[in-house]
Amino acid sequence: MADFIRLAGRFADQKGMGAYVVGGFVRDLFLGVANYDIDLVVEGDAIAFAEGFCEKFSLHAVTHKRFGTATISGMEGFKADIASARKETYEKPAVLPAVSFGLIQDDLFRRDFTINAMAIAINASCFGRLMDFYGGQDDLKKGFIRALHPLSFIDDPTRILRAVRFEQRFDFKIERQTLSWIKEAVRRSMLHLVQKHRLRDELLLIFNEKMPLKPLKRLYALCGFSYISEGLRFQRHWPHYFQQASKRIAWYREHFANRRHIEPYAIYFSLFFYPLPLKDIKKAMLDFAFHKGASSRLVSLKENIHTIRNGLSKKNAMPSTVWRLLEPLSYEVVLLAEILSRHKEVSRHIEDFLFIYNGQRLHLKGEDLAGLGVEPGPHFKKILDKLLMAKIDGIVRDKEEELRLAQKLMQK
Ligand code: CTP
Repeated sequence: MADFIRLAGRFADQKGMGAYVVGGFVRDLFLGVANYDIDLVVEGDAIAFAEGFCEKFSLHAVTHKRFGTATISGMEGFKADIASARKETYEKPAVLPAVSFGLIQDDLFRRDFTINAMAIAINASCFGRLMDFYGGQDDLKKGFIRALHPLSFIDDPTRILRAVRFEQRFDFKIERQTLSWIKEAVRRSMLHLVQKHRLRDELLLIFNEKMPLKPLKRLYALCGFSYISEGLRFQRHWPHYFQQASKRIAWYREHFANRRHIEPYAIYFSLFFYPLPLKDIKKAMLDFAFHKGASSRLVSLKENIHTIRNGLSKKNAMPSTVWRLLEPLSYEVVLLAEILSRHKEVSRHIEDFLFIYNGQRLHLKGEDLAGLGVEPGPHFKKILDKLLMAKIDGIVRDKEEELRLAQKLMQK
């Protein structure tokens, strides 16, 4: 990473551009927190810089022409986002600003908080020089989230979510004056004016935090959730559910490291929207255009939870019944069903499903069935399915018994 940064600095020298690492990368450097996303700002055309740099060093750049930014990948273990230093003018509250090329000072001034508004020069002549015009280092030491100017949250109300997210992540405090600016923006219902997809992106960042309930709780106290869905309230049971979720995610990763990858954010996301009626959930999913994977898991949870709970709360539920109920669901939904059910038998059946039933495979292969004279088609699939259920229920244990049952089923 250090080599990459030096090379980028030297390349900027050749192009006659000022170049800096900025934002979260600099903040985390001072906090001693690992960050594998380098944010670079160049005083000039970022896309031309990225393309030239990648050509020279055989790396790969994806350019976002509309935003004038590029992402460089191909390095081991990290990536770099490059942007042109920009000046922003907010013409209307809560609407994205007009942008023009600027200097690093302009670029830092348009940022959200002092701790995110620092840059470190990487040109060879001034490598390592800190640019901290707004007291970012001091606020890092004091543990303050401080906005740069009074209109910060009017211009960009999504910063309310960001302030809360950083405050809770680092155990900082939103500085007093900044808090009053936030309250003013809330009083003016600014969050209701922001484009939904921008709110969505910030919400998803909250669900991606290690402990998402902390920022959610703080956010609710500051501004409620009505800009997300009218009827959404902080739930008394959330602390329990979110805590269970984080335990279950760790448990799953410990025991099933080589199985399907699960997305913790999708679990927290579902817990958050779950209290709403299905029609409000569907509306929120559409309004915010939430990622299809996450929203379909949530809808499937809402639609199936009663059947799962009824089926699995019975002590003597057959393993094949458990399998049939859970197998079509994603693992996130399986874990959510367990968390939300708060029922000993449901937990036991779900653990058995994950540890035992779901790993079961028949000894018999398709060609063995074909060898017995079963024609390929729906009948063929039905027999394989019945054999697997018999295996899961412990009725057949080895290939011999599977063959015998297959023959019986064929005769029926
Ligand atoms: N930024 C901003 N206003 C926003 C979004 C972003 O000023 N509404 C600026 C901040 O300077 C921020 C940088 O853009 O540091 C990069 O944003 P992002 O990648 O969202 O955040 P990080 O600070 O990198 O934080 P994280 O550790 O969560 O990735």
